[in-house]
Amino acid sequence: MSPRSDSDSQEWTQVTRHMRKSVKRQTSLREDIGPTPNPQYTVQDLKIAREKARQIWRGEDVRTCLQGLIRTQMTRHPKKISQAVCLGLGTVEMPGAEVRAQYTVFTQLEAFLDIVATMEETQNQKIKLYFQDPKFSLAEEKHLEDMGHAVLTNPQAFSTINKETFFYAPHLEWQPYLDGIASGPPAVVMGNSLDFITDAWSTEVLDTDKLVGGIEFGRNSKRIAVPNYQYMVDGFIYWNIGGGAVEYNS
Ligand SMILES: C[S@@+](CC[C@H](N)C(=O)[O-])C[C@H]1O[C@@H](n2cnc3c(N)ncnc32)[C@H](O)[C@@H]1O
Repeated sequence: MSPRSDSDSQEWTQVTRHMRKSVKRQTSLREDIGPTPNPQYTVQDLKIAREKARQIWRGEDVRTCLQGLIRTQMTRHPKKISQAVCLGLGTVEMPGAEVRAQYTVFTQLEAFLDIVATMEETQNQKIKLYFQDPKFSLAEEKHLEDMGHAVLTNPQAFSTINKETFFYAPHLEWQPYLDGIASGPPAVVMGNSLDFITDAWSTEVLDTDKLVGGIEFGRNSKRIAVPNYQYMVDGFIYWNIGGGAVEYNS
């Protein structure tokens, strides 16, 4: 996949506006996903795995770079962030890929906590954290709750996200990603590049209004590339400098 040029995406947006009525609508509720049966990991296992990933992450230059990037944007384009919602953190219950899954989940968790802490420090106001992933095991939910965070049941996150939300969704599937953006629109989003929506269109049935809304959100936001790291690749931050001017029909 390669990013399209601006003229390509503009042309494409016009096409979607014409097509809007004829496209089959899809519900945002994915019923085909749920926790892996017979999870192996206990809360204690998860604490140990998180600590290992945290030690490595804390020594990485990319961490300092990410914190600096957030501090800079909070200063240049101040945002009031009262809550942070993480969708699609993922599960460590991945038979055959457990170790990589552990580092991915817990590195992405640490990065999320670092971004939130930097925002709190810059705005001098606490931020409430929420998590949602239908694949979480009970132990994964308990582990996050023990840290003092709220775990939402799909699709609760979509009615929780608002204009004061930092919406964090590394590598989340397109439909829930667009649902999350449409729910606010959020103040800040971190996830896949919105330039690729047009590519997703050719392979997935997506809610057309939200698809167009996602493209507009991308255009109304300042886009910042997240430094690549082995457990967090090709991420982008969208800083909504449109001040919530993007409107959605649904
Ligand atoms: C491609 S995986 C990404 C996992 C991890 N963040 C990574 O970068 O490897 C997408 C995740 O999104 C989750 N997901 C799908 N629909 C969701 C929804 N409606 N709400 C929250 N998470 C969802 C899936 O269960 C899965 O764990």
